[in-house]
Amino acid sequence: MALSQSGSTRDHWSSRSAFILAAIGSAVGLGNLWRFPAEAGANGGGAFVLFYIGCVVLIGLPILLSETLIGRHGQASAPESVRRVASASRASPHWDILASMGVLAAFLILSFYCVVGGWVLYYIGVFFVDIFNSGISGGAFTDQSAEQIESLFPTMIGSAGWTVGLDALFLGITLYFVARGVSGGIEFVAKWLMPAFFVLLILITVYGAFGGAFNQTLEYLFTFEPEKLTGPIMLAALGQAFFSLSLGVAGMITYGSYVGRNVNLASTSALISGADTAVALIAGLCIFPIVFSAGLSVSAGPGLMFQTLPHAFQEMPFGSVVGLAFFVMVGFAALTSSVALLEVPVAWMIDKFRVVRVFSAIIVGFGALVLGALAALSFNVLSDWHPLDFIPIFEGQGFFDVLDGLTAKFFMPIGAILTALFIGWVADRKLVDIENGLGGALHLTWLALVRFVCPIALAAILVVGLLPEEEPAEAPDAAEQVEAE
Ligand code: PFF
Repeated sequence: MALSQSGSTRDHWSSRSAFILAAIGSAVGLGNLWRFPAEAGANGGGAFVLFYIGCVVLIGLPILLSETLIGRHGQASAPESVRRVASASRASPHWDILASMGVLAAFLILSFYCVVGGWVLYYIGVFFVDIFNSGISGGAFTDQSAEQIESLFPTMIGSAGWTVGLDALFLGITLYFVARGVSGGIEFVAKWLMPAFFVLLILITVYGAFGGAFNQTLEYLFTFEPEKLTGPIMLAALGQAFFSLSLGVAGMITYGSYVGRNVNLASTSALISGADTAVALIAGLCIFPIVFSAGLSVSAGPGLMFQTLPHAFQEMPFGSVVGLAFFVMVGFAALTSSVALLEVPVAWMIDKFRVVRVFSAIIVGFGALVLGALAALSFNVLSDWHPLDFIPIFEGQGFFDVLDGLTAKFFMPIGAILTALFIGWVADRKLVDIENGLGGALHLTWLALVRFVCPIALAAILVVGLLPEEEPAEAPDAAEQVEAE
């Protein structure tokens, strides 16, 4: 535990590199490995990918810097940090709504994120058992047909016991590390798991590249066909950029609040978003060659990782070992993100009710378990429950998809618009100048992006997100995918 500049014993990252690893750990997760390739595959490849990169640079990065700046100045949980910046700027304390909504959103995302984390645990187990039964040298599932392999996923998520049990297990692991604190738990996870993650990612990508479909992948991911760039695809790319960089849910405000004064936030934010984008692209370069070489389709949406890939591993030499390594890698990335999601409401509760960390983690974890169980059950016993049927854009959606849609279409864009307005127009200029670590032309560019580009572009996602969906090109919802089986 380090002393903060105010002399309190608030826990801090032990070094700049610890913060960078933890923030990259928060950003790199299922969003990069599961959602990005699925979205790119379902949305036609190159046009989506290039627009996504534009969104990261012009919108994601300025908001990331704004969020870490608020946290670092505030040195408290997200809503309290906003109030401190507001107070130093003689602005209304009610701007804290942007962070309070974020705390709620992080809690909602955590609930369904751990359900998917549980699916990853399932596949770690499946490949482990496969190696145990058939040895390491062959492809995966030697004695099974393609249909049998692809039916593993619907069978698992069709079972209430499996989905809820695995959700609870993944949430329990997350809770354990968050309960141990910032430097002792969250930082520990990031320091060990992120380097291991990078090694596995590179190894699997290089191995997959020898399968022969690398050029096809490069062409698929980077050929820019402007006519494919439709409104829904642009919005899907913008939403994906936000989810991937962990923005709009107070996550980076919270992580920023454990950063010391000696850290340059601008260069650190650039590093975090660069690493996150690189991982998303490498994930594409890792997954698509494996799928292409097996002659399978990349446009399976959410089923890409959990159905198409396990099938593709059958075609690879040492496929079961590669499969196990792949899902362990995904599990590491998911855990460093879920600890970030849990930390946001836990830090808020510690500040607000002056409770100890372990107690706060248990209470929030229990709430997330209840919501997560409802989300998990929406794939099986509660599949006919459509809680927001009366709102057109949520019509016919199960609880899992409702949580996903509510956070991605409402909470994240609204939280980010308010952040941009607050930092761009309301916060004291001197405070912002001192905190952001930018000078000259870069500073002016950043300010212009935060003041004008971010709020306008984000308001567009919000408006289009509210319109009833007519997006045939978009990835189907996970629940729909399974119902179609
Ligand atoms: N960025 C994470 C991912 O790509 O999986 C998800 C996430 C983590 C969102 C933490 C928000 C957050 F605060």
